[in-house]
Amino acid sequence: QYVLRNDEILPRDLVHIDIEDRGYQFGDGVYEVIRFYDGKLFHIEEHLNRLLGSLSSIEIALPLPVDVMLSKLQELVETADYKEGKIYLQVTRGVHPRIHSFPEGVPPLLIAYCSEAKRNFEQLDNGIHAIAVPDDRWLRVNIKSLNLLPNTIAKQKAAERGAVEAIFVRNGIVTECSASNIYGVKDGSIYTHPSNHLILNGITRQVTKKLAKQANIPWIEAEFTLEDLQAMDEVFASNTIIEICPVLSVANVPIKDGKPGTVTRELQKLFSDKIA
Ligand code: PDD
Repeated sequence: QYVLRNDEILPRDLVHIDIEDRGYQFGDGVYEVIRFYDGKLFHIEEHLNRLLGSLSSIEIALPLPVDVMLSKLQELVETADYKEGKIYLQVTRGVHPRIHSFPEGVPPLLIAYCSEAKRNFEQLDNGIHAIAVPDDRWLRVNIKSLNLLPNTIAKQKAAERGAVEAIFVRNGIVTECSASNIYGVKDGSIYTHPSNHLILNGITRQVTKKLAKQANIPWIEAEFTLEDLQAMDEVFASNTIIEICPVLSVANVPIKDGKPGTVTRELQKLFSDKIA
C-alpha cells in the first residue's frame, strides 16, 4: 500500500506520524473521503473545493499546489490494485511541542491513501434503519474537521441498536446523520436541512440536488422535526460511501410501509447512471 505524504508517494511502512503531530494531539486538521469508480475520481473538484474551504476556515495552508495534489491523487489511485475504492485524505497543522495556540512556521502535513470500497448493493437495495440522538456537536460542523467524537459515539449507539445511522436532532430540528446527510420526501418534494454551519454540505448532497433538478423533483431546504421526518412518505441518507440509501425506519417508526420509496429509487438510478 502506498501513501501520499505532502507531494511524495511512499510505501506505507516508510510513513510515520510524529507523537507531536497536532492532528494526533488536538484533532487540529481537516479531512476528505473521496470515491473512485473504475479508477476515476468521483467529483474530485467539489471535494478539493470543500477541503480548501475547511482549511482556510481554520487557517491551515495546503502544503502543495492544488493541481499537483490532484495529479498525485490520480497517481495514488493508479498504485491500487482495485478500481473501486476511496481515498482518505487529511491535512493537519503539523508537528510542534504541544501548545494550544497555532505555532508559527510549522509546515502542515497532508496524508492520503486508498482502500478498496465496493458499492454496497445490500444497503442500496434493502435500505437501512436509523436511530435519533441529540446533536451535541459544536456549531461549525460545515468544517470537515478531524474532531469526530460526537459522530463516533452516535454511530456506536446506532450499531448497538442494530441500526446503521444516527440522526442528529438539535433544538428539535433534524440536522444530518453521524456520517451522512438526511432527506425526507413528502408529496413528491425533497426536504433537507439548509446548508449552513449546522450541517456538512455533502458532496453527495450537492450531486443529489442536481439530480433532483434534472428529474424535476422539487428540492426544499427547510427545517423540520423528527416527528415531521417520521411522517414523510420516504426518507433517505447520502454520503460518498453509502451513495443514496433508503432509510426504512427512524427511531423505531417505520416510514410509510417500511419499504424504499419511488423518489429514492429514481434518484438512485440517476446516481448509478452517473457512475456507469
Ligand atoms: N462523511 N455529514 C457528515 C457528518 C459526514 O461525516 C459526511 C461524510 C456527510 C456526507 O458528505 P459527503 O457526501 O461529501 O460524503 C455528511 C464521510 C463519508 C466520513 O466521515 O467517512
